[in-house]
Amino acid sequence: MSDSVVAVNLRVNGTEYPLAIAMSRNLLGVLRNEVGLTGTKEGCDDCECGACMVLLDGQPVNSCSYLAVQAQGRQVTTVEGLVVDDKLHDLQRNILEAGGVQCGFCTPGMLMSACALLERNPTPTREEIQLGISGNLCRCTGYARIIDAIERSI
Ligand code: FES
Ligand code: FES
Repeated sequence: MSDSVVAVNLRVNGTEYPLAIAMSRNLLGVLRNEVGLTGTKEGCDDCECGACMVLLDGQPVNSCSYLAVQAQGRQVTTVEGLVVDDKLHDLQRNILEAGGVQCGFCTPGMLMSACALLERNPTPTREEIQLGISGNLCRCTGYARIIDAIERSI
């Protein structure tokens, strides 16, 4: 099967990246290897764990299961894009302060889901927060401190 290399222009965290990539490449790999933003993690590579979550036009998407070429013309936001003027986003600061980070592998994806949740629902209940991060698996924390951190960010 042919896998043509095509020119794409990805807009990531407000910066344009002109790239030549194979049609079959997923967004996760291109972000990490071509764009050089390694905050987004690869866990299952099968749309199950949420470690690779990024925002596309503000909507959370598992980047392991999304073709990079489909992101052309859309705004991609990664965890690196949450930092503005060297200042951590409230969610980032609160997840650290609440002890919601252990190995940290799930953290970027959790933050992106939480970010999207607060954007569409600025005052979620604890149950709504649980639902909002239900696509993100954490093997370390038991979730309570992550949910605490999101509550603190409201
Ligand atoms: S690596 Fe994408 S959902 Fe697990
Ligand atoms: S902190 Fe380790 S997977 Fe969540």
